[in-house]
Amino acid sequence: MSVRNVAIVGCGIGRNHMLEGYNNHRDRFQVLAVCDLNEERLNKFADEFGIPRRTTSFDEVLGMADIDIIDVCTPPGVHYAMVTAALRVGKDVICEKPLVGNLAQVDEIIAAEREARGRVMPIFQYRWGDGYGKAQHLIRTGVAGKPYLATAETSWFRGPDYYAVPWRGKWDTELGGTLLTHAIHTHDLMTGLMGEVATVSAEIATRVNTIEVEDCAIANLRMQSGALVSLAVTVGSFEQITRLRLCFENVTMESTLSPYNPGLDPWKFTPRDDAAKARVEEALRDWQPIPSRFQGQMGAYADALDSNGPLPVTLADARRSLELLTAIYHSADSGTRVTMPISGDHPKYRSWRPTDQAA
Ligand SMILES: NC(=O)c1ccc[n+]([C@@H]2O[C@H](COP(=O)([O-])OP(=O)(O)OC[C@H]3O[C@@H](n4cnc5c(N)ncnc54)[C@H](O)[C@@H]3O)[C@@H](O)[C@H]2O)c1
Repeated sequence: MSVRNVAIVGCGIGRNHMLEGYNNHRDRFQVLAVCDLNEERLNKFADEFGIPRRTTSFDEVLGMADIDIIDVCTPPGVHYAMVTAALRVGKDVICEKPLVGNLAQVDEIIAAEREARGRVMPIFQYRWGDGYGKAQHLIRTGVAGKPYLATAETSWFRGPDYYAVPWRGKWDTELGGTLLTHAIHTHDLMTGLMGEVATVSAEIATRVNTIEVEDCAIANLRMQSGALVSLAVTVGSFEQITRLRLCFENVTMESTLSPYNPGLDPWKFTPRDDAAKARVEEALRDWQPIPSRFQGQMGAYADALDSNGPLPVTLADARRSLELLTAIYHSADSGTRVTMPISGDHPKYRSWRPTDQAA
């Protein structure tokens, strides 16, 4: 087990990577450098955590020979350039969600990773939670039975102060709206439980804020299993909740309402009868708690690097998530039901912007 040298780029969510992730794995990661264009933020961050090197230049980070991992925590519009540059100089890369803003760029990064020494791990830290893990276990072991229907609500609040940050709310720099920036986690959990998507019908709207991108959305999915899934998203909810609710043959499962920790315990598992109750209890009897969120994802990442095994979140996972986004945007824009998968000849493969705002 070796200690890997990390450079964090971007001091917003990068601080959570530090606090929850690297600080809980000091024997596996050493953050040697931090980079941000904002010097005040950079200095505060470096001082707070005693990080030896600080720079406003991403190129300088690329040139640091002793850095093993570049952790990209910048706004979405610069992810593609940073991830591809980091791969080119042989680094392993972590990248915040959303990885990039269209499927063509995801496929280019997948191709670049094949030729590179390093690999790319997208962030999906909501996957690390005991409630979500237990639900996944009940489904994978067959205890849950046939999936019927599921609903996911991402009801958050974001107002003018949030969108005052210049990169937010714009297609060029945020790359999408609340679907891309907020609900991406909930929808990743939902497809992680309900499987592959077959068709998508959706509507989007901008109703809460004066911004370019959507801040409300609904989508109806038919899954390859035949089950139905409904997604509802808004940043206009004064009580903030995230909720996943899944109806299976033998058990109904419901997350907590915690907006930013919906994967954590306690999920509610309601069995259909006493026999199902006994099977659920048996399946969960020896459940071993897992470290949550960034602590969980960074720990699993270190294990994968040590064993040279598959990364805990892959580019294929990011592609699946952005493929659903593409389908939702296309359905909303065209008023049609979209059939998956989405490949290179799809009209929104290179850009999912609404046609009236296409660059
Ligand atoms: N996983 C999660 O739960 C989660 C939560 C919040 C944000 N995010 C994602 O993290 C990313 C950043 O969001 P944020 O909320 O931290 O934004 P932010 O604006 O708070 O922070 C981004 C930082 O990046 C810096 N920056 C911008 N361009 C740069 C460049 N070229 N070189 C160096 N530094 C640069 C900015 O100065 C800023 O300090 C976004 O992709 C966002 O979607 C993820």
